[in-house]
Amino acid sequence: MANKNKIQRLSGMHDILPEDQYYYENIFDTCRQIAEFYDFKKIDTPLLEYSDLYIKGAGISSDIVQKQMYSLKTKGGDSLTLRPEFTPGVARAYIEHGMNNLPQPVKLFSYGPVFRYEHPQAGRYRQFHQFNAEVIGDGSPVVDAQLIQFFYNALRELKVKNIVVEVNSIGDSQCRPYYRKLLTNYLKSREASLCADCRRRAKENPLRVLDCKEEKCQRIISQAPQTIDHLCEECHSHFKSVLELLDEAEIPYRLNPHLVRGLDYYTKTVFEMYSEEKKEEDVSQPRLCLAAGGRYDGLFKLLGSEATKAAGGALGVERVNLLIKDKEAKSTKGPEIHVFLAQLGMAAKRKSLKLFEEFRRARIRVAESFGKDSLKAQLRAADKAEVKYTLLLGQKEVLEGTIIIRDMKTGKQDIVKFDKVVDEIKKRIRG
Ligand code: HAM
Repeated sequence: MANKNKIQRLSGMHDILPEDQYYYENIFDTCRQIAEFYDFKKIDTPLLEYSDLYIKGAGISSDIVQKQMYSLKTKGGDSLTLRPEFTPGVARAYIEHGMNNLPQPVKLFSYGPVFRYEHPQAGRYRQFHQFNAEVIGDGSPVVDAQLIQFFYNALRELKVKNIVVEVNSIGDSQCRPYYRKLLTNYLKSREASLCADCRRRAKENPLRVLDCKEEKCQRIISQAPQTIDHLCEECHSHFKSVLELLDEAEIPYRLNPHLVRGLDYYTKTVFEMYSEEKKEEDVSQPRLCLAAGGRYDGLFKLLGSEATKAAGGALGVERVNLLIKDKEAKSTKGPEIHVFLAQLGMAAKRKSLKLFEEFRRARIRVAESFGKDSLKAQLRAADKAEVKYTLLLGQKEVLEGTIIIRDMKTGKQDIVKFDKVVDEIKKRIRG
């Protein structure tokens, strides 16, 4: 049992240590570069929003709202929630800043932490990071296909192997009510065999049953009526175009007629991406969805704004990292450091602080061990840093206004004027 007196990180939340920063930045940078090429602009929205935004956005019957929100009450009585996803916040910002007056569509990307109170396990955390992309103000199937292309290529660029793209259409307000009725009747006839969660879902939002991973429900799901057989003409032709566009773009996909996604705001196209490359030790683990999204033409009305067509998706950074980390050449080394600044005595220490800053302004990386007093220890640190030059500043040099430059390869030492040393080093390392 955890020692109650010892403060530890929360379950499902993790530190990203310095040696892991490279991997995260690599994922963010790669996605960001592709997003900018696709003409997405970056938007940051607050971590905290009114809870109503997510309740209206994700839907009262979604797992996110039912059990996964980190919510708090302010002293004034407002209910606020830490963002469990980006989409409702980005939609709110679009509405609040009148972005409907900009040329449409408005393409926005964001990245950062999101919070969901989930059962922590491998690849499932309570605080994790997403790279999110939204295209707002365009109902064309090209947008859906381009978003799928964007996430597919981001995963490829990140060297994820054997990517599987699953797609489906879940219809819209025209055709979904009829399908819902069909599904409700079917589920009612098999209610006794459903898991407890699905018995509730069958009443509140029957489509969500199709998303259940329980084995007993899987058997029922496999026989259930399928959305694509009951699409209205518009949804059918929209989906047909999306598939044709994916064929043309040579993006391999699988039709998964039971793919519905866990959020209520989706309409028409939905997609999820996986990797079928498994490490031996995790063959028993359920496959983890790496990126997912879809069209959500109904969300803006739910948020009280005029109807606005939109689509988007998000990539789970931790899950991608779990897959690619082992393959990435570990690059814990920062930029190359050419100089070590060693000092001896208080007067030299004082001068060193200022000199260090002058090197920063000249954009020359300098290593130091100002906390150490022994020259021997400092020279050992200089060796370890594999620098080309060590600068030696002692009492004598301070009095004479000089500094010693030691070439670490040849051992040759030169005395130069203290206020010329930055220029001298610049000359030596930059030629
Ligand atoms: P989502 O499927 O809930 O969609 O999350 C997107 C991705 O976040 C998942 O595919 C997965 O990689 C990652 N993810 C989800 N939950 C966890 C977790 N507990 N731990 C680690 N990673 C996780 C959305 O969030 C939608 N807002 C996507 C979207 C944007 N749809 C339209 N626009």
